[in-house]
Parts: sequence; C-alpha cells; structure tokens
Amino acid sequence: MNQHPAQDSGLTHIPVMITEVLSYLAIQPDGIYLDGTIGPGGHAISVLKELTDGGKVVGIDRDEEALDICKQNLKTSSSFLSLHHNSYANLDNIFAAEGLSTAHGILLDLGLSSLQLGSKNRGFSYRSEGPLDMRFDQSNGSGAGKLIDQAGRDSLAQIFKEYGEERLASRIAKSIKEMTAMNTIADLREAIRRCTPPNHRDRTFARIFQALRIAVNGELDILQQFLAKFIDFLRPSGRIVIISYHSLEDRLVKHSFKELASGGILDILTKRPITATEKERKNNRRAGSAKLRAAVKVA
Ligand SMILES: C[S@@+](CC[C@H](N)C(=O)[O-])C[C@H]1O[C@@H](n2cnc3c(N)ncnc32)[C@H](O)[C@@H]1O
Repeated sequence: MNQHPAQDSGLTHIPVMITEVLSYLAIQPDGIYLDGTIGPGGHAISVLKELTDGGKVVGIDRDEEALDICKQNLKTSSSFLSLHHNSYANLDNIFAAEGLSTAHGILLDLGLSSLQLGSKNRGFSYRSEGPLDMRFDQSNGSGAGKLIDQAGRDSLAQIFKEYGEERLASRIAKSIKEMTAMNTIADLREAIRRCTPPNHRDRTFARIFQALRIAVNGELDILQQFLAKFIDFLRPSGRIVIISYHSLEDRLVKHSFKELASGGILDILTKRPITATEKERKNNRRAGSAKLRAAVKVA
C-alpha cells in the first residue's frame, strides 16, 4: 500500500462548506477527482483522506505560490496527488497529460483564497500596499495597473458596474483617470477616496478591487470555457460541485447545469444554491457570499 494521503496541516485558509462538498462529491475511495482550483488544498486534503489505492486528486491552480503552499500542506505520494500550474479551463490538456479520460468528481471553488487576500505584494486586498497587480498567474499577462492605464474611462466604468455592481462606477472611473499616477494600491485607494462618501467606503473599495480582479484574470470567460466542456470529462454518475462568490458566476453555472439537464445529460442535485450555515458564516467571512451548486452526470 502507498503512503496514506495527507495528514492534518496548519492551514490558515478555511475551506468553505467542506461537509457539503464531500457529501455532494460522494467520494469513492478509488475514484479520480479533479480539484480545478486547489489553492492551499483545504478541500483536497479532505478528499485525499477518503482515498485508498487507485484513488487520486489532480489539482490545478493558476497561482504558483498557491501550489507551493499546497505542496507543503499536502505531503502525500504522487500516486495520490498530482499538481498542475495551469487554468482549470485547460482541463482537456491536463487530462491528456495525466493519461485520463474522465473523473469521478470535479470541484471548482472560485475566487481567491485567504492566503492570496492576505498576501502583501499581490494587490488583491485594498488593505495591503504595493503594486497594482491582482494576477493569479504572475508568469503571464499584465496586472491591474496596466489594465487601468490602457482602458478608457467608459470601459473602466463598465467593469466597475458589471463586475462590482458599483453605483458610483462612472465617478470612480473619472477620478482614477484624473490621477497623475496609478501604480500602487495606495494610488487606487486615493482615487476612490476623492470621489466617494466616507460611509461604507470599505465596501466600495472591496467592490472595485473585486471588479478589477475579475477583469484582470478574465474570470468569467474562463468559467464559460470550462462550463462548455466539463461534461466530457465526467464519467457517468460522476459529480460536479461548483462554489461561486459572485452573482454573475453563479448565474453562468446555473444556466449551464440547466441546459445540460434539459438535454438529459445531467441531473441537478441542488434545486437552489446551497449556502453556508450561520455557524460557518460566523467562523469564516469568505463563506458569507458562497453559493454551491452540484450535479451528477446521467449514467
Ligand atoms: C478559493 S481558492 C481555492 C481554495 C481551496 N478550495 C481550498 O479550500 O484550499 C481559489 C483558487 O483558485 C485559483 N484560481 C483562480 N482562477 C483559476 C483558474 N482559472 N484556474 C486554476 N486556478 C484558478 C486561485 O489562484 C486560488 O488559489
């Protein structure tokens, strides 16, 4: 028998709705599970604990730092876990590289981890300092500073309106464009501070940062690409579980599941999205906006 999967670790990121995730995935000990957003491995560690020989977690993350942390957290043999620095939208290439055709279960836990939010130099949090980056994959593309620089005022306002549901989108976009420098988190905070009332300004900061992060990483496009193909990589009776934190993401998941269900390919297990219990919300702020949808491929 191989070395048994991960023992407990000192994770500071708390996985959201872990009991519900495990229950909807209905783990088979010798099953193959794809964790498309493995992050620090909070969900994966619990999946691994249920696996025996023949079982495996294939983990993907766009963030190399997150994968390094995951490796430290999930010290387990490569026969149980293999990690890929990639986007979950490329699951076809990853399955091919693994010599796999289908999985027993696929999990996506979208958004960003507490570790990324708390990281000083990544630009994800309005509470931090440093450059305006916000890329999940720092080896690719350009960050939020460049996006702000290249986008016109109207497109910026559109990003804030659509992805941040920000009422003062146009005013904020104008203020940003009027700044002489826009390279750091402090510059962005200052532009927002100049044109918004102090009441609940933290929420305005959070909405603008979320909107920019979604735009910088093309998060909705990527989710759509995944939703268009994941079904081919689930075996009959295989389960899909997706946790989203943004209404646009949840809508995409809902529509995709409905379409597949109306084609008779998928059975939806969550008529309405599942939300975290009051107790979990109290212990984990990230759980507050989480919506979980699950489905099973028709056998
Ligand atoms: C909420 S965290 C996942 C946390 C993980 N489920 C846990 O409990 O430890 C989301 C992760 O998805 C990653 N991510 C975001 N977009 C991605 C993409 N397109 N492909 C792969 N990973 C992505 C982020 O870098 C982040 O580490």
